[in-house]
Amino acid sequence: METAEATKNPPLPKGRNMSDHKSVTVMGLGPMGRATARVLLEAGVDVTVWNRSPGKTEALAELGARPAATAAEAIAANDTILLSLIHYDAMYGVLEQGDLAGRTVVNLSSDSPANTAKGAGWVLDRGARFLTGAYMTQSDDIRHPASHLYVSGPRDLHESLRPLLELLCANEYLGADYGLAQLYYQAELAMFHAYLASLQQALAMIERSGGDIDTFVALSEDDAGSRRDFTRYFAGAAKQGGWDDLASLRMMHAGAQHVIDASEDAGVDAALTRTIQDYYQRALDASEKAGETVPVYRVFRGDAA
Ligand SMILES: NC(=O)c1ccc[n+]([C@@H]2O[C@H](COP(=O)([O-])OP(=O)(O)OC[C@H]3O[C@@H](n4cnc5c(N)ncnc54)[C@H](OP(=O)(O)O)[C@@H]3O)[C@@H](O)[C@H]2O)c1
Repeated sequence: METAEATKNPPLPKGRNMSDHKSVTVMGLGPMGRATARVLLEAGVDVTVWNRSPGKTEALAELGARPAATAAEAIAANDTILLSLIHYDAMYGVLEQGDLAGRTVVNLSSDSPANTAKGAGWVLDRGARFLTGAYMTQSDDIRHPASHLYVSGPRDLHESLRPLLELLCANEYLGADYGLAQLYYQAELAMFHAYLASLQQALAMIERSGGDIDTFVALSEDDAGSRRDFTRYFAGAAKQGGWDDLASLRMMHAGAQHVIDASEDAGVDAALTRTIQDYYQRALDASEKAGETVPVYRVFRGDAA
């Protein structure tokens, strides 16, 4: 993985526990930045807020936040700066407007591990400390019991900030490598994206075929437990090179065709299932070529040819 090690962070200030700092800056006030600022304000933290475009600080000011007129003012206001921007590229234009030396930047934005490593290096070169945070949350309901903040970077820096960051939601520290929080977050998102898209296909199938959505929801209520069992089973298989039952690959390919037929008969777009079926086709083609079963896992790994 192309990520920077968290070794270049300036040392923490001696005799000063950063968790004592009940004052932070939040930059970027989309749904997640607003939720971050709101939860901190509710916890009694003094919060300075800034957003690139106007109109997003007023509601937070009514809750007690201090709006900063410029990015430079927001950066100067506190030692600890939480960023919640659309991607890491947006960070450069925002942070270059102020003096970062001696400050701590916690970037809560989503991006790839490689872009995160690049961003971490950029911040460290300006004499600041850096921590990666990735919100694995129920949308912007960061206080939901299932919400977590994945964190990576220097362990001592995280320990000093943990009391502050745990006001937001439960923290999962994943290691010194800055990219790790993003790696685990993006892997979970890969599953979540597919789940959300396929859920909408399923709901459209039910509705367009004259079924009842509430009955479908009741029938799928136990899916979570089943998904946990599949996750464990396939994770075990992945460690052995992947699930390699040829008859099952054929069955899954045929099963995908049934979903395609049921969808398209009802006028529902089945492109997602066609893509999934293609993975089984590629595994079957590779198996025939290799003279042994090639799991779909190896198609994803890119070593099936
Ligand atoms: N929403 C969720 O459920 C969720 C959950 C977990 C993680 N995340 C991640 O959290 C981060 C924030 O998400 P979000 O949903 O709050 O909103 P978002 O739409 O991803 O980001 C909006 C924020 O980014 C700012 N921004 C965009 N381009 C910029 C630029 N070039 N320079 C400066 N600021 C820029 C926007 O400023 P303007 O207002 O000026 O446009 C706004 O403050 C993202 O990385 C997202 O993937 C989101």
